[in-house]
Amino acid sequence: MNLRAIRFYDDHPSPATLQEEVLRGLASRPRCIAPKFFYDERGSRLFDAICELPEYYLTRTEMGILESCAQEVARAAGPDCTLIELGSGASKKIRLLLETLRPRHYLGVDISREFLRESVQRLARDYPWLEVHAACADFAHDFDLPATGDAGRRLVFFPGSTIGNFEPWDALAFLQRVRRLVQPDGALLIGVDLKKDPRLLHAAYNDSQGVTAAFNLNLLERLRADLGAELDPRNFRHRAFYDAVRGRIEMHLVSRRAQTIRVLGRAFHFEPGESIHTENSYKYSIAEFHALARRAGLRPRQVWLDAAHLFSVHYLGVIVRSRPRTT
Ligand code: AVJ
Repeated sequence: MNLRAIRFYDDHPSPATLQEEVLRGLASRPRCIAPKFFYDERGSRLFDAICELPEYYLTRTEMGILESCAQEVARAAGPDCTLIELGSGASKKIRLLLETLRPRHYLGVDISREFLRESVQRLARDYPWLEVHAACADFAHDFDLPATGDAGRRLVFFPGSTIGNFEPWDALAFLQRVRRLVQPDGALLIGVDLKKDPRLLHAAYNDSQGVTAAFNLNLLERLRADLGAELDPRNFRHRAFYDAVRGRIEMHLVSRRAQTIRVLGRAFHFEPGESIHTENSYKYSIAEFHALARRAGLRPRQVWLDAAHLFSVHYLGVIVRSRPRTT
């Protein structure tokens, strides 16, 4: 075990910042709370359970694609790179790449602190040749990563179609930040869920065992546990639907009746049917994603799909636009 080798950087947003964000969201119309708040300890475990669901094709399909493209990714990235995984969660997907890719450094970045700590410890134990780093940070905002003490090529790995959580405008800004992070010779390996038959999408976010509902409703449990909110989660229900015009799944917590919830000394009144918007999950065609990447200064190099074209994994390089002038 090389536990001592793990370097852990804690840049977790302060409780005050997070509380303010929740209050602002609850006060806004439509009411909303960002999906990153799903991932407390229990939420992260519920998400893991979602990934095992028969209806939730995303994880399974992406893992199949990663297995089959690992060789090509390794060839493109070259040896001894610094592999940066954003939203690393349980770090299962990265295991499909590590043996083939043989990076020198691994840096896992996640908002869920203890979950991150445990998963990087497991990685360090299982891959003794790997230098493991971890950073607890919110990469939805401008982020700074700790130096890994390495000058090697940087490869950012952003699996799971988490990019779908961003508004297209924010996705663009995010990709631009990634470009800055890895340039000039780095690359991005990203999993992006594809547009498809809305019935398949609907089933993936309305599973028959109710795990997705529990995941969504856990947000209310978290408001109670972490912010002392006065509310009864049973007075809300899970709702998820596909909006074909916007090309996104929307998740909501819908009030079952007229009620007032209290959070941090503030009161929020809900009419029956009024909701808290908790997640968007955008779906892209290959062409749409390529256009977005190019606008961010990233060059599509390769894309891999499963046989049914449910999911895509893209390898993108950096477009070097012009040399800095020396005057
Ligand atoms: C982790 C954001 C990709 O949008 O599919 C799963 C989260 N929400 N079921 C997704 C999620 C409901 C997931 N992402």
